[in-house]
Amino acid sequence: MSYVSEFLNLKCSVDILQIIKPLKKIDKEISEAYSIIRQIRQIKNRENYQIIDFCSGNALVPIISSFLFPEIEKNIAIDKNKLNREYDKINRFKYVKANIYDEGLNIFLKENINQKCILTSIHACKKLSFKICDIFISNEKFEYLFLMPCCIDKNKIIEILGIELFNIFLELNMDMYDIWSYSIIKYCQKSYIMGEYDKISIIKENKNCLSQVNNLIIIKK
Ligand SMILES: C[S@@+](CC[C@H](N)C(=O)[O-])C[C@H]1O[C@@H](n2cnc3c(N)ncnc32)[C@H](O)[C@@H]1O
Repeated sequence: MSYVSEFLNLKCSVDILQIIKPLKKIDKEISEAYSIIRQIRQIKNRENYQIIDFCSGNALVPIISSFLFPEIEKNIAIDKNKLNREYDKINRFKYVKANIYDEGLNIFLKENINQKCILTSIHACKKLSFKICDIFISNEKFEYLFLMPCCIDKNKIIEILGIELFNIFLELNMDMYDIWSYSIIKYCQKSYIMGEYDKISIIKENKNCLSQVNNLIIIKK
């Protein structure tokens, strides 16, 4: 079943659609969010986690999660621009207007994270993905990362992989978005000095996700 059909089969889908409207390319947005929701569903003991979604935009992941997983006490969306929607109708959900580069974000995270965290982010452009990785790496409460990157920054790829490896990938006709995703993983490996990650993978969500850029990076500490 497609992610969109799966979503529409949920009892809460109409309530969610009422809150998030108006939303352009709604089927694409739902399919992107649902690729992460499916991963969260596989996590056991979800009651031990809260969700923080960075560069959240329409905030579909934390909104669907707050309807679907009542055992998760806090679902937080963070974005520098907050949409005008009736978010107060959603239980266990909070939309925080914040710039992820602001010093104040650390204070907010310290005050609001009282459990282990699942960090999610869909299509944070260019270097924003790396800032999100830095937040994931440096905060011991963050245990899972589900990140779907988007716009490619070639200079950043070369900075991380080095020009020789980058050229080898090009000679192998590797897709640029795959190289970009791989360089984000490499960055997370290099920067994590606390040891080895429990799990690192990239899922290519081509079949179900209606977006062209649909690699899902999964890291567990
Ligand atoms: C391409 S949109 C993705 C939105 C959403 N995750 C989605 O998939 O629909 C990128 C989002 O990043 C937000 N953003 C950009 N720079 C940011 C920053 N420095 N701090 C917080 N949010 C930021 C934008 O406001 C925008 O909502």
